[in-house]
Parts: sequence; structure tokens; C-alpha cells
Amino acid sequence: MKVELIINGKKCIFDLEPNILLLNLLRDKMDLTGSKYGCGIGECGACTVLLDGEAVLACMILAVDVDGHNVDTIEGLAEGDKLHPIQEAYLEEDAIQCGFCTPGFIMSTTALLKENKDPSEAEIRNYLQGNICRCTGYVNIIKAVQNAAKRMNKK
Ligand code: FES
Ligand code: FES
Repeated sequence: MKVELIINGKKCIFDLEPNILLLNLLRDKMDLTGSKYGCGIGECGACTVLLDGEAVLACMILAVDVDGHNVDTIEGLAEGDKLHPIQEAYLEEDAIQCGFCTPGFIMSTTALLKENKDPSEAEIRNYLQGNICRCTGYVNIIKAVQNAAKRMNKK
């Protein structure tokens, strides 16, 4: 099936089998391997990307179902060598250990801060509950989101 997507701002046209997952399209056909294949069943959030600005799980979506839509991945956040403020905040707060969960957390954080510019700790924890991290204990991730909110509100 012919499918047209805007991926990280670039128009991309594919001829796809109807059963290919958005996550596999990104990773295998586009080489955008920042979005991770963790559980594959919608439980871990490692595959989180933005679909028309909303955080979604790319392992749960068929690529043919998002024909004509905008998909943003972690690879589209930085501008050249300049990291996005959310990426800088995660680094500054040491919110990354093995890093497997990090792209998913950062994409969810991007969606959260678009909806809510100054979330409370409870709101952050609630919003990020679909993202699982086995390493950090979450405390530094919460700090990173607060740090990112401050950076972005200063702009
Ligand atoms: S890989 Fe998609 S939610 Fe775990
Ligand atoms: S940093 Fe390792 S799973 Fe989150």
C-alpha cells in the first residue's frame, strides 16, 4: 500500500505491507533507531514518538493507519549540533543510565510540556506513568522534566 508520512518534517513515501508497525518502519526502513523496541506490547513506552504532536506508542500502530500524518522521533529534536532543551535537561540532571528508555521519556516529556508548561511533580509522574525505566529510580527524570520546563519557559 502507498503510504505518505511527514517524518521529522520531511515528506516520505513508502510502498508497504499492510501489517508493518510504525516502529519497524522507523527503525528498519528509515534507520531511525532512537525509538526502541522494548516490550512490543504497549507496556514500556520505549517506542514513544509524536503523532501530530501527541505521544503515542509506535509498537501499537500500523504504519498504514497513519498515512498522511506527522511523525516526530527523537532524531528530529536537536537542531544540528544544538540539543533540544529537554535533551540538555536530561543530561544536566543525570536522568540517563543505560539510555534504553530515554528517547521514549524525552518524547513523552515533549508532549507533556506542550500541554502543560509548568507541571507539578504529581502531574509529571502521572503523565510519564506509561514510560518504564529499569535504572534511574525516576527521581532524576522528574528533576529533568522540571529543569526542561524552566529552560523552555525562559525562552
Ligand atoms: S516497545 Fe512499545 S510500549 Fe514497549
Ligand atoms: S536508563 Fe536504563 S532503562 Fe532507563
